[in-house]
Amino acid sequence: MHPLARWKLRSVRPYVPGKPIEEVARELGITSEIYKLASNENPLGSSPKAVSAIKKAAESMYLYPDDSFYSLKKKISHRFKVQENHILFGNGSVEIMLQLAIAFVNPGETIIAPRHTFIMYRVVGNIVGASVIEPDIHKEGYVDLDNILRIMPDDTKIVFIANPNNPTGNVIPPEKIHEFMEKVTEDVIIVFDEAYYEYASYFTDFPDTMEYIREGRNVVILRTFSKIYGLAGLRIGYGFTTPQIYEAIQRVRLPFNLNRMAQIAAIAALDDNEHVERSLRTTKEGIEYLSSEFNHMGLKYVPTFTNFIMVKFGDKTKMVHEKLLKNGVVVRPLDPYGIYDYLRISIGTMKENQKLVKILKEILR
Ligand SMILES: Cc1ncc(COP(=O)(O)O)c(C=O)c1O
Repeated sequence: MHPLARWKLRSVRPYVPGKPIEEVARELGITSEIYKLASNENPLGSSPKAVSAIKKAAESMYLYPDDSFYSLKKKISHRFKVQENHILFGNGSVEIMLQLAIAFVNPGETIIAPRHTFIMYRVVGNIVGASVIEPDIHKEGYVDLDNILRIMPDDTKIVFIANPNNPTGNVIPPEKIHEFMEKVTEDVIIVFDEAYYEYASYFTDFPDTMEYIREGRNVVILRTFSKIYGLAGLRIGYGFTTPQIYEAIQRVRLPFNLNRMAQIAAIAALDDNEHVERSLRTTKEGIEYLSSEFNHMGLKYVPTFTNFIMVKFGDKTKMVHEKLLKNGVVVRPLDPYGIYDYLRISIGTMKENQKLVKILKEILR
């Protein structure tokens, strides 16, 4: 590391994203079609309404974006029945995570970023020089709130809770959230990261965490346009919180952090019910198909409530990952999450799922 860099940066282990299709093709010299099932993107692609809105607006790119997010904020306010001074925006929901850490965490204070959950919580904690504590998740793969309460030190500022959890795909039983919120004190900010909200609320009885914001609790809910709306490449995250937390975030937010095309696409995507419904159906069918095939193959997996599934390959994990890659199927190894015997596989189109199963059968025969 550069000797002049902040010494706290020594503990930052940067985020390693899933490999982009172009990189896999280049590295392995693959010229045939590549199936990317590594980053939980929407296999049906972007919302068509968003694509057409951007095409129409392309020539206005020379103008700065609306830094008040006026139209998008109105739309989200109306859709989710929240007032505008409760709505946050970020260049991806990851940016809001960083804004929260910068705005609230003094160096040395604690951030809770459970082990075997989304890595960016730990990264933002390290960036701001927090003490990052990584409690174990529940053996069934959801974030263990009892465990968090048990080990949380007094100087805890932020607790990050991914629900559904990434990479396991499991959800916290709603009554556990309720119990947790009854016990947790008001000197901590609780962040419910609901990046996969649309899937989870389709697949299960998903808790309404907005209730805590209505009550004025120190809660932030994070959502994104990267998943169901298929706009990961535009980087559009949003969130809900209290006016007081909103006000603190405005002090650290860089101007124009949501670009012009992103705002236009998000507004159009919110009206694209057809794309959302098709995406949910595709994911549901994909999960049913893959679970049944994995059962036939005797493979263990964690029950999922979202658009990816974590499958156990034991001591064959590395080999399976490499062979899939050589055959043009990119899945996510979980070494950065500290998990070495499972792979995370995004649910694809039926064609992609079938290709995955065919190759897996060949590899494991
Ligand atoms: C749990 C979780 N939160 C947040 C994100 C990032 O979302 P965004 O693209 O909005 O930054 C992801 C992406 O994989 C995720 O799995």
